[in-house]
Amino acid sequence: MTGPTAPAPAPPVVSLRDVEVRRGDRTVWSRGTFDIAAGSVVGVIGPNGSGKSTLLQLLLGLLDPATGTVEVLGGPARRGDRRIGYVPQDDGAQVAEAVRCRDLVALGLSGHRYGPGGLGARRREREARVQEALHDVEAEAFAGRRMSQVSGGQRQRVALAQALVDRPELLLLDEPLANLDVRNQHEAVQFIGRVTTRRAAEGRPVTTLVVTHDINPLLSVLTGAVYLLDGHPHYADIGDVVDEELLSHLYGTSVRVVRTAQGDLFTRSG
Ligand SMILES: Nc1ncnc2c1ncn2[C@@H]1O[C@H](COP(=O)(O)OP(=O)(O)O)[C@@H](O)[C@H]1O
Ligand SMILES: [Mg+2]
Repeated sequence: MTGPTAPAPAPPVVSLRDVEVRRGDRTVWSRGTFDIAAGSVVGVIGPNGSGKSTLLQLLLGLLDPATGTVEVLGGPARRGDRRIGYVPQDDGAQVAEAVRCRDLVALGLSGHRYGPGGLGARRREREARVQEALHDVEAEAFAGRRMSQVSGGQRQRVALAQALVDRPELLLLDEPLANLDVRNQHEAVQFIGRVTTRRAAEGRPVTTLVVTHDINPLLSVLTGAVYLLDGHPHYADIGDVVDEELLSHLYGTSVRVVRTAQGDLFTRSG
């Protein structure tokens, strides 16, 4: 067959090879070997203490692997990589109460120059980016309020906007749905899905890892999952993860997979 050469597949955004992570003298997990493709939305699932947050810390360069290699966005994981947006676990607990939501989002902007132009043009570009991030999480209406004056769900949106404002290539969210009611969970999942779609359409795909103890609220956006089973992380496409045997083993309790009349999948224990 003749014709144009197919473009080389994009390199993985995250690539682990035989990684073991230790904390103190204890192995948290080992034999981590998997790739995550650009544009994926990947759940990170596993029981408490299985090392989900540890995986994010590894990708952020906050922790070195004891063995093996960790590549992020084409190179070794390194601290302070501005191409990564991060929302830590329990982020809401640490915020500066007196700061206005909009200003907290702006803190997520890096200092580098945006395009040509003088100070005025740069200021306008920064404001446009803050506006875009606020819009992404539907936070415009309360952006002028202080953090002390907004709800838990609104705080979580501000944290997400701060992580998005620098247009990261990799977004790491540690239990962003914990402490949210069902409606706020649903909205947060929609924001993740919309940003993923928009960034793909713009030709600047974002890859997202979401730590979660319940995959149900995220099933509509997840393309895959890293699951921490018996001390080892594995990656699989989401269709292979939503599996009764795998999930029951993972959580150590019987899990059933149910398909609704509308075709939606969900899991439940029992
Ligand atoms: N800063 C730390 N120092 C030492 N051990 C830690 C630290 N953070 C977490 N651990 C331990 O590492 C293991 C994995 O923790 P973590 O990644 O937070 O799990 P998860 O996010 O899945 O609940 C746990 O046994 C935990 O006690
Ligand atoms: Mg954790």
